[in-house]
Amino acid sequence: MKKHGVAILGFGVVGGGVADLLTNNREEIKNYLGCEVEIRKILDLRDFPASPFASLVTHDFADVLADEGVDTVMEMMGGSHPAYEYTVAALKAGKNVITSNKEVVANFGDEFVAIANQMGVSYRFEAAVGGGIPVINPLIGCVRQNKVREVRGILNGTTNYILTKMFTYGDSFENALADAQAKGYAEANPAADVMGTDACRKITILTALAADKLFDVNTVHTEGITGIRKADVLAAEKLGHRIKLLGRCILGDEGEVVMVSPFLLPSDSPLSTVSGVYNAVEVVAEPLGNVMFYGQGAGAGATASAVVGDLLPIIAYGSKNPIVPGFNRVDYPASDSFAGFKSKKYIALPSGNEEKVREVFGDVAFIESDECAFITSCESEKETDEALAAIGVPVLSKIRFL
Ligand code: HSE
Repeated sequence: MKKHGVAILGFGVVGGGVADLLTNNREEIKNYLGCEVEIRKILDLRDFPASPFASLVTHDFADVLADEGVDTVMEMMGGSHPAYEYTVAALKAGKNVITSNKEVVANFGDEFVAIANQMGVSYRFEAAVGGGIPVINPLIGCVRQNKVREVRGILNGTTNYILTKMFTYGDSFENALADAQAKGYAEANPAADVMGTDACRKITILTALAADKLFDVNTVHTEGITGIRKADVLAAEKLGHRIKLLGRCILGDEGEVVMVSPFLLPSDSPLSTVSGVYNAVEVVAEPLGNVMFYGQGAGAGATASAVVGDLLPIIAYGSKNPIVPGFNRVDYPASDSFAGFKSKKYIALPSGNEEKVREVFGDVAFIESDECAFITSCESEKETDEALAAIGVPVLSKIRFL
């Protein structure tokens, strides 16, 4: 039986999960792919003397490139560099590349897809969004005959885990983060999770596929969860809502709004019931309606499943690789249309500002609280920011409703 040779770049949580999956599920994978998969090289800076894969470890990427038996390079190093250089070199050497690295896909996906198409090889990245959830391939293969109106989702397992623990158990932000790190969900630098950067990369990738436009990630309006306070959790509970960090790509007649921020969701909405490390991506399209993809968004086994699953189209289609759509880079910022984005908002100001709020915002609904907390009508970002500037006191919280 023919063997398909792979090299693993990065032997961390996901790379280790891929090696384990390829080993433990050898029979299932052989049946699924119709051929055996052989791990030929593992590239990492470290040695792993106690690992059963120790003899495959190399520290030199040239060994991977030179090995003609390596058909597919699986890049799970994370970060932009040297992942970018290794990906370009592997594709130019005629090797397929599979990645779980959302940073490199969001930053350079257009270049990689172009090189892969020139070389007649595949560049695939199912694991880059939603961990183990099949979402990229269904978005490419099952949805685009529709008019896609919105793609929105809980795209970061670490922050969803933290928010779930804050809501369900009243945990502190710090304890919940430490727990997520111990379970291997968080990025090497968890700032990318809690500041919303990781979700921003993922919604940028989904936007490229849904709207055929690759925006510069640095221009996407991005807020994380570090500003969410106990008082906000209590206010949300009073309103029968939950706070979730969402990535949203709204495709309207006046252009795209792409953003990452915490949102208040009614507790019976499908996305608000997504708890812990689980992720979900909801697509709203015509005439399809709403569909939701749900599953474990981080962790070794789930992410490894998506990486190995990407071997199927590579082996099935060979050089006639299905072309990945989208990834057309645009030269205007994603933030262009954000000022006009309309939503209802929960706002908290220091107590004693109720009169000023009525003067500037009109007849808003106040929430019973030690602070001056209220809900605006559905208005644009620009209108809300101008009103808050006119009041001129520190804004303790501003959270949008979905
Ligand atoms: N740190 C990421 C998360 C890992 O928590 O979702 C998966 O991309």
